Amino acid sequence: MGRAFEYVILGGGVAAGYAALEFVRRNGGASSQELCIISDEHFAPYERPALSKGYLLPQDAPRLPAFHTCVGSKDELLTEEWYNEHGIVLVLGTRVISADVRQKTLLTSSGETISYKTLIVATGARAVKLEEFGVSGSDARNVCYLRNVEDADKLVGVMRSCPGGNAVVVGGGYIGMECAAALVTNNIKVTMVFPEKHCMGRLFTPKIAEFYESYYASRGVTFVKEAAVTSMQISAGKVTAVNLGNGRRLPADMVVVGVGARANTGLFDGQLVMENGGIKVNGRMQASDASVYAVGDVAAFPVKLFGGDVRRLEHVDCARRTARHAVAAMLEGTGSVGHIDYLPFFYSRVFSLSWQFYGDNAGEAVHFGDLAPPGDGDGAAPKFGAYWVRDGRVAGAFLEGGSRQEYEAVAAAVRRGAAVADVAELERRGLAFATQA
Ligand code: FDA
Ligand code: NAD
Repeated sequence: MGRAFEYVILGGGVAAGYAALEFVRRNGGASSQELCIISDEHFAPYERPALSKGYLLPQDAPRLPAFHTCVGSKDELLTEEWYNEHGIVLVLGTRVISADVRQKTLLTSSGETISYKTLIVATGARAVKLEEFGVSGSDARNVCYLRNVEDADKLVGVMRSCPGGNAVVVGGGYIGMECAAALVTNNIKVTMVFPEKHCMGRLFTPKIAEFYESYYASRGVTFVKEAAVTSMQISAGKVTAVNLGNGRRLPADMVVVGVGARANTGLFDGQLVMENGGIKVNGRMQASDASVYAVGDVAAFPVKLFGGDVRRLEHVDCARRTARHAVAAMLEGTGSVGHIDYLPFFYSRVFSLSWQFYGDNAGEAVHFGDLAPPGDGDGAAPKFGAYWVRDGRVAGAFLEGGSRQEYEAVAAAVRRGAAVADVAELERRGLAFATQA
């Protein structure tokens, strides 16, 4: 049994949704057998970032269909009906178990062979499991990961089953920070455990991290830093305590794990060139086989702004933009669509805080604004940030609590690689360096 399509999008996450919208805008919809999306999730593509934010709110938490793509960029809400109306075939709840790039076929878990002329790989990433660090217990009833709606529903259920209880959050990255904030907001006591000296080690400077750690502490979060989880105490299918390498034992009514993600490249190992843990593509998002494009978390692509350095960025803005670019390149043929010129952009929102980051956190970090921990300041909403200066130019910028204009100004400073003649002067001018340029 089998079907054949002109175009197939493999994976039904953020990138798939934005690719579909771009396809419809450029192509005026899809005719029969033109475009199919295959996803092992049971829902049409949705804005994944909602899962660690609004979805976990104690009250009025949004549920699907409210956050399908592409509402995250204030565009249309693409419900299942939207795909039907535009002639796009959604194959949901179906896993692709093997791919043959030379034959241009995909084999699904239901035994169907789906063939394509052009493939867009949008398989995203999966959560790294504790078992990879030699710790078992991931399948316990109160151990939660967070990648999809099922995970989020489990997390909400477990959280509600232990009001006022103790959560151990393992990992000090994005998932750890956003989930810890959500748990506290739900009146759960949180202890965060991670191996680094400070939280968000991939992005924050020690000074920036200190601000957020103090803020979290003021909301009741306890940090156990430079510590590794060595085992979990399990009784009747539930974790009751988490054991650390330093001999400490943390009582736990629930555990949330965010120890990184791995791109889902396995179907293409040995068939496509890989780099940085992802599928290597050119500036048109085209893989080493010209009939395959890769977008979103799974794609390793050249960032012009970084001199063509190949990067894999696990962030939603990148998924949206690389997906649109791939569709534009795919539909318009060779040459007419140039190479992507992407300004990396990450953000997070926790409690009433909100930050944005642009570019590369490489070079010397120059802080500005009031980084005083909460309680030490005048009670106003915090506003501070940092520039990263490399070779006399702004390579990256971080801003907490900015206005739209201020975010746009720091983004523009990074985009043009604003020259920095004197770092002390940059520090003195702070945000005005970007806003009054
Ligand atoms: P995504 O993971 O969205 O989609 C991949 C899809 O492919 C999934 O539906 C998956 O099930 C499917 N799939 C994989 N293998 C398959 C197979 N073999 N067969 C069929 N289907 C398959 N970023 C940011 O900038 N700001 C933020 O606030 C957040 N917040 C956030 C919260 C949470 C909880 C997560 C998990 C992630 C974020 N992110 C984020 C990151 C952002 O969501 C992420 O970068 C994008 O979802 C990537 O989009 P993709 O489409 O590449 O993968
Ligand atoms: P991450 O890479 O942000 O953080 C991983 C963390 O794992 C590290 O900070 C470290 O503290 C921790 N860690 C590593 N080994 C450990 C160990 N042995 N024991 C304890 N902790 C250990 O990954 P994540 O937080 O799991 O996020 C998963 C994915 O979701 C990433 O792709 C991330 O970009 C994405 N995400 C992004 C956002 C956002 O952009 N706002 C929000 C949520 C999730």
